[in-house]
Amino acid sequence: MTEGPKMVTVTINKSQYRAEEGETMLSVAMRNGIDIPHLCYEESLDPYGACRLCMVDHVTCGKRTMMTACTMRAKEGLEIMTDTPEIVKYRSTLFELYLSQAPKSDVIKKMAARYGVTKTRFLKKIVHDDPLGGKCILCGLCVRVCDEIMGGSAIGFINRGPSTVVNTPFFDENPACLGCGTCAKVCPTHAIEIEDQGDTRVMKSWSGTRIKLQECPDCGQYFVPKAMLEEIQSIPDPGIIDELKTLCPACRAKEIAKSVFKSTFQGSVYHG
Ligand code: SF4
Ligand code: FES
Repeated sequence: MTEGPKMVTVTINKSQYRAEEGETMLSVAMRNGIDIPHLCYEESLDPYGACRLCMVDHVTCGKRTMMTACTMRAKEGLEIMTDTPEIVKYRSTLFELYLSQAPKSDVIKKMAARYGVTKTRFLKKIVHDDPLGGKCILCGLCVRVCDEIMGGSAIGFINRGPSTVVNTPFFDENPACLGCGTCAKVCPTHAIEIEDQGDTRVMKSWSGTRIKLQECPDCGQYFVPKAMLEEIQSIPDPGIIDELKTLCPACRAKEIAKSVFKSTFQGSVYHG
């Protein structure tokens, strides 16, 4: 019999909660409805504490130390406070910084407003010609997901200091971009723009990189980058007949439903 995860008791804001040993304190808090603001936490990637917004007080022997909840692992007896006056002040200053870094981000404006922060004392980033429309906080999630999950490494950090931006090398179209759009899905500030124009996906934020899309043979809708489909088709999947692999999700669902109906009365249309 396999043993389940070891459970521990942790304390958040003086209340006790059960947690899996080693899970992040941010996820324990979220699961229990305790609000800790966060921007750079993405379940599919290792936490790396870039945005600093999830800072909480770690309480040990009556002393408090500020630490990021997304990188803090649950262990027996661990105690944190999520909203002390010092933490609130720290987050408020961070929000001012983010309002200057990403002055066009409605996500940041909304989060900051909850802390009473509507203005910034810091110099605002000049946003004309910014391919990310003044919404990027440089959290790096898009870069990491492209590199670590998709294996594309199509984008990266360019320049240094206040001039740092995320984009394709030399701001050129990059054939390494698959056009999967995972970067846009994980971007916490919705900074990344992608537009499908007929048979082409245009990665507007990534130097206008253009990617050919596959047409669904049933409904004629362009729905997935050709290169991605080829990768998907190369994955052995004996449960689905090959013709279904080229269909868009809606037509595929219809075909599968028809197949299930037919197989009930006339025998299976699935291979194997
Ligand atoms: S574009 Fe979005 S995900 Fe990428 S670094 Fe900027 S804020 Fe983060
Ligand atoms: S979510 Fe923890 S530092 Fe960003």
